[in-house]
Amino acid sequence: MRLIKIFSCLLLISSSIQAQQIRLLESGRKTSIRGLSVVSNTVFWASGSNGTVARSTDGGKTIQWMTVPGYERRDFRDIEALDAQTALIMAVAEPAVILKTTDGGQHWRKVFEDSTKGMFLDAMDTWFPASGKPRLLVIGDPIDGNMFVASSDDGGDHWEKTAHHIPLETGEAFFAASGSNIKWYAAPGKNNPVPYVVSGGTASHIIQADLAVKTKLSLLQGRESTGANGIDIHPVMDQAVIVGGDFAKDSIGTGNCVLVSGFRSGKLVFKEPQTAPHGYRSGVAYLSKLMLIACGTSGVDISRDGGRNWHLVSKEGFHVVKQARQGKAVFLAGGNGRIGKLEEE
Ligand SMILES: *[C@@H]1O[C@H](CO)[C@@H](O)[C@H](O)[C@H]1NC(C)=O
Repeated sequence: MRLIKIFSCLLLISSSIQAQQIRLLESGRKTSIRGLSVVSNTVFWASGSNGTVARSTDGGKTIQWMTVPGYERRDFRDIEALDAQTALIMAVAEPAVILKTTDGGQHWRKVFEDSTKGMFLDAMDTWFPASGKPRLLVIGDPIDGNMFVASSDDGGDHWEKTAHHIPLETGEAFFAASGSNIKWYAAPGKNNPVPYVVSGGTASHIIQADLAVKTKLSLLQGRESTGANGIDIHPVMDQAVIVGGDFAKDSIGTGNCVLVSGFRSGKLVFKEPQTAPHGYRSGVAYLSKLMLIACGTSGVDISRDGGRNWHLVSKEGFHVVKQARQGKAVFLAGGNGRIGKLEEE
C-alpha cells in the first residue's frame, strides 16, 4: 500500500513535468508566416508573405486561407485580431499599409497608408481596456533617425503618428520577424499601459516608448542580423523575457535571451538565463508564471522555471508563438505556411 502510494506519487510528478510537443496543423503553402494573433482556444488568425491570411474558428481543425485581393505580392508581417470577425494586417513598405476586416476576412479596408521613402513597418500590438475600444500601436524603422510610431484609440479605424522623438543609433532598427518586439504593459489593476519596444542591428535596446527611455540589452548586436526580436511581459509578475540572437547564424545559443524585472519601479534589472534557448529566437510567450515558450528558425524551447533554463522541444523552425488571449491554447507559425499547436505529449 505504502509502496503503491509512493509509486503513484512519482507518476504524478513525472506527468506534471511531462514533455510538450508541437503538432503540425498545416504546412506546404507558398507563404512565410510571421503574424499570429490568438483570440481564444478556438479562434486564431495568421498573416504572411504573398498576400496571405489564415484564420481558424475551430482551434485549427480547419484553417481558412485567403489572399487579399490587390495585395498578392505584399508581405503581411503582423496581424492583430480583435475577435473572430475583426482583424488588422500590416503590409510593411512601399507603401506601408494597414488593412482592417470586420467580416472575417471577406473584405479589407485601408485604414493607414504612408508612402514616405524608407518607411518600413515592423510590428503592432493591441491593448484591450476594461471598457472602450482597443488601442493599437505600430512601430517602424527610423525615419530621419527617429523610431516611427503611430497609434489608434478606436480599434484601428483611425491612426495618428506619435510626435515623440526617439532617436536610434545608426544601423539600429526593429525586426519585422514575429510582430513580437512591441508590448503594451500595465501594472496589475492599472488601465494606463505603456509600450515597451526592443530593437536590434548595430545596437539592441529596450525602449520605453512613451518616455523615450532606452536601456542597452546584453544580447548579440553589432550586425544587421543581430539583436532583440521578441518580448513578452508577464501581466502580474513584473517580469519580462526578451529573445533574439543572430538570424544569420541561427544555432548560436548565447546572447539570445535576457530576463528583465523592475517594470513597476521603472528601474529595470537584467538577468541572463542559466541555460539559454538553443539558438536565435524571434518569438516568445509566457504560458504561466513559470512556463515559457520561445521559437525561431532553428527550433522551439520551453522553460519551466521562469526562463532560467530552456529545453529544446522541437527542431522545426517557427517565427512566432502566441497564447490565446482568453484561454490556454498555444499556436506557432513559420515558413512554408507552417502552423503548429503546442500539445502535451
Ligand atoms: C510566393 O509565391 C511565389 C509564386 O508562387 C513563390 O515562388 C514564392 O516562393 C512564394 N513565397 C514564399 C515565401 O513562399
